[in-house]
Amino acid sequence: MMEVTFYDRQSETKDIMDIIYMKPRLITFIYGPINSGKTELINHLIKELPEEYTPFYVNLRGRFITDYEDFLNVLFEIDEKGVIDNVGEYAQSMIKDLKTLSGIPIPLNLFEQIFEKKDKSKDMFRYIERFFVEMSKKRVPVLIIDELQVIGDLKIDGLLIYKLFNFFVRLTKELHLAHVFVVSSDSLFIERVYAEAMLEERCKYLLVDDFDYETTSAFLNHYGFDMHEKEIAWHYVGGKPVSLVRLINEKVSEKKIEDVAGSMLTLRTGEIETMLKRVNELGGEIIIEDIKYHVSYEKLVEALKSFAACDAIGMNEVDEISKAFLVKKNVLFVDPLTKLIKPQSQLNLLALREAMGTRVEL
Ligand SMILES: Nc1ncnc2c1ncn2[C@@H]1O[C@H](COP(=O)(O)OP(=O)(O)OP(=O)(O)O)[C@@H](O)[C@H]1O
Ligand SMILES: [Mg+2]
Repeated sequence: MMEVTFYDRQSETKDIMDIIYMKPRLITFIYGPINSGKTELINHLIKELPEEYTPFYVNLRGRFITDYEDFLNVLFEIDEKGVIDNVGEYAQSMIKDLKTLSGIPIPLNLFEQIFEKKDKSKDMFRYIERFFVEMSKKRVPVLIIDELQVIGDLKIDGLLIYKLFNFFVRLTKELHLAHVFVVSSDSLFIERVYAEAMLEERCKYLLVDDFDYETTSAFLNHYGFDMHEKEIAWHYVGGKPVSLVRLINEKVSEKKIEDVAGSMLTLRTGEIETMLKRVNELGGEIIIEDIKYHVSYEKLVEALKSFAACDAIGMNEVDEISKAFLVKKNVLFVDPLTKLIKPQSQLNLLALREAMGTRVEL
């Protein structure tokens, strides 16, 4: 496989750096359609951060979190060397060799102490706050949690996410102690966050979308795409970075872009058709805020048909159940800021049109 290097994201990088250079004030939610390059952007930025910043990057993707034990194990990086009681000294000693950490360092004995406590969240937050206070004498902590929706519904004496949000508000708005970035590709989660009264005026949102036409074209120029290949790429996959990288690699293997893009579309169309067929024949269900709902095949089809002639529709043009179902199936993406619903990608737009028999010719 050919090495495709990180490309562009100048405006998103500037937006994030503008936040980082200021005193921490708000929680920043980074959102966007699936595979738009959110994690890639964050990882790239982490490597470029000036020395006075220390990033803590916690990725919940693929983590199976059902209780505090699981969550604490993801959030912390347990340090097994010796018994340490003074958090201040510990934080100071850690600063020397802190690079990017995939968790907040904690000595094993203190971790075990938190574990034994009844109200674990209180102690866990108290420790992190102490650690950040000590650290911030020399560095600015930057806490980044990727895929936070993984614990969106986790209940331990109430929803954990609310406790976390409260803590994040404390770290930012109240103490100005650490920058907090929350990344998510789950647009239903972002929609819920957006409607959350406790976060009003306490957070901001940053969309990381697929590349636009000019960026896509310039990106593909680097890898020797001619005009025709670029048009094919744009028509089939738009500016979705992951799909563009796939096409670049296929071109390197001397495959025809048309054939590869065509088979990507056939595959996605088949998946959408199968999904619809199953709902039609077997029925479908979805749980929204703990309540189970029946998914209507007719309404799903109606929702998908709204994209016959346009790329985006208003938030209220689709019933809530179909919307939630199609977002969960990664067909649609909801943007609460613009109040628009659009397919997760150009490929999804074409595939759902094919599936609906409303194909628009090239
Ligand atoms: N700026 C970029 N330059 C080059 N390649 C990129 C860029 N952004 C993303 N990619 C490619 O797209 C792939 C997917 O990106 P990434 O995992 O960051 O998306 P994501 O938005 O975090 O996805 P998810 O919605 O699944 O969380 C990367 O592995 C990389 O190959
Ligand atoms: Mg990601």
